[in-house]
Order: sequence, then C-alpha cells, then structure tokens
Amino acid sequence: MICFSIISPWFKVMVKAENLERPIGVFDSGIGGLTVAKAIKAHLPQERLVYFGDTAHLPYGDKSTAAIQAYSVKICDLLIRQNCKIILIACNSASAAAYELVREYVGRKAHVLNVIDPVVQLVGERFPQRTVGLIGTKQTVNSNVYKKKIDDLNAGICLKSLATPLLAPMIEEGFFNNTISESVIQTYLSDPALDGIEALILGCTHYPLIKEQIAAYYKGRVEVLDASELVARHVGAVLTQLGIASARLPGESHFYVSDYTASFEASTQLFFQKKVNLKHYPLWE
Ligand code: DGL
Repeated sequence: MICFSIISPWFKVMVKAENLERPIGVFDSGIGGLTVAKAIKAHLPQERLVYFGDTAHLPYGDKSTAAIQAYSVKICDLLIRQNCKIILIACNSASAAAYELVREYVGRKAHVLNVIDPVVQLVGERFPQRTVGLIGTKQTVNSNVYKKKIDDLNAGICLKSLATPLLAPMIEEGFFNNTISESVIQTYLSDPALDGIEALILGCTHYPLIKEQIAAYYKGRVEVLDASELVARHVGAVLTQLGIASARLPGESHFYVSDYTASFEASTQLFFQKKVNLKHYPLWE
C-alpha cells in the first residue's frame, strides 16, 4: 500500500508522457493519403505518424461498401497494435464507407477521424445559400455522404456531385500537369452536372496533385477546396482539445503498404514530396 502511494504519481506521469507520444495512425487505399500525411507533418512536426496504404486492394473507389469496411477494420487492428492515439481515415472512399463502423470497432482505444467532416464544416461556414460542387470516386459520390452531411447543416447549400473515377488511377500513373491530364480534367469539369458551382470540393485525397490544373480550368471563377490543410488543422485541434499533443518528436514515422512494388515507392515521392521508406505489411497472411 505504502509502495503504491510512492510509485503511483511517477507512474501517472510516465503513463501521461507515453500517451502524448503515441503515434497518429493514417490510412488510405494507397499512397493518395500521403497528401494528408504531408500536411499533418508540416502542421504538427512533433507528431510521429504510422501510415498504412492498402495498395493490395487499391482502388477503394470501385469496391463495395462491405469490402472497404472489412479492409478498414483489418487496418485498424494494425494501427491499434501500433498504439496509435488517433486513427485518421485519410481516404474519402473509406471515410464514406467505413467511418461509423470503424469508430464503433475502435471504441476507446483511439480517437477516429475522417477527411469529410472538416470540409463539410468549412462549406457550411463559407458557402451558405450557394451552389457547391463535389468530385470524388464512385464510392464517395454514390454514398451521398457529403450531401447528407451538408443537408444536415440546414444552410441552404445546393451540392452538385460528379464521380470522376479516372482521376485517381491517372494520378497514380504520374499523369498530371500534362496534356493528357488536362484533357481528362476538362472533360470531367465541363460535365453539365457541375454547371453553376461557385466552389468545388476535391473529394479524394489524390486530387491535391491536380489542384492547380483544376484551378486553371476555372480561371478563378470557382474556389477549389483542398481538404489536406483543413484536415491537418482539425487533427491539431483535436489533439489540443483532448490534451494529447506531443511536445517533442518521439521517433521516426513509419510507412507500411499491403503490397510492395518499387513503382509505389517511387510514386510516394510525388505525394509526400520526400523520399519514403515503404515497409511491406500484408493485411492477410
Ligand atoms: N484516395 C482515395 C479517396 O480519397 C481514392 C483512391 C481509391 O479509389 O482508392 O477516395
């Protein structure tokens, strides 16, 4: 008993410090979520990341909701084993298909965040009574998750959505800032489904890489909303609110993929703008 009362305060301090230095888990269908990871690293340089790209099951955008949910739960097992304090679903398709389920599954072991809510909040604040566009994968657009969340704001916002399934594979193949990507982007954005929009949500974590080409298409007429910065700030706000922000960088970030190829490793540099050492971690043995 005496021993407990002496050790206990120290133990509490140690537990607290350990808690703050737990990593932030970030996952995506592949390497697109590295655009968000990069924004988090820039905004919160003292936080260690554990990134998981489910390259074996890429793309999520064409998969069923049930399949994306099964992959997401499996990835969360790994991130929980890595003792992550936050799990950020850095993929719109998985945020649309699996956020609620993952939150239930993870429970109190980590705080689960998605990449949709921060954008919806911004749209509600900045574009009430206006017409806003959304582009994303088939899963994201057909789930209607953005529409439901924006309608729930009761801000009189009209959302016009278009699935743009060619964009993510095009970017993965390195086709951006060239005439091929320009022509694909122009074909999609000139679709009547997006007529009359005043802002456009980039509803896929791959799209920050073509943000400039999209902005060039609109020539300043439409504001292009890239979620990565917003999401990074949201993660920072949640860490502060929960009192679990790290005061010093506790170690190296780790990057895992479920299927390793040298071309994925080469592409990571496009998304993270820095060399990344990918480790192979198969989800199912
Ligand atoms: N990065 C994913 C997203 O944000 C799209 C890529 C995919 O289809 O897997 O939706």
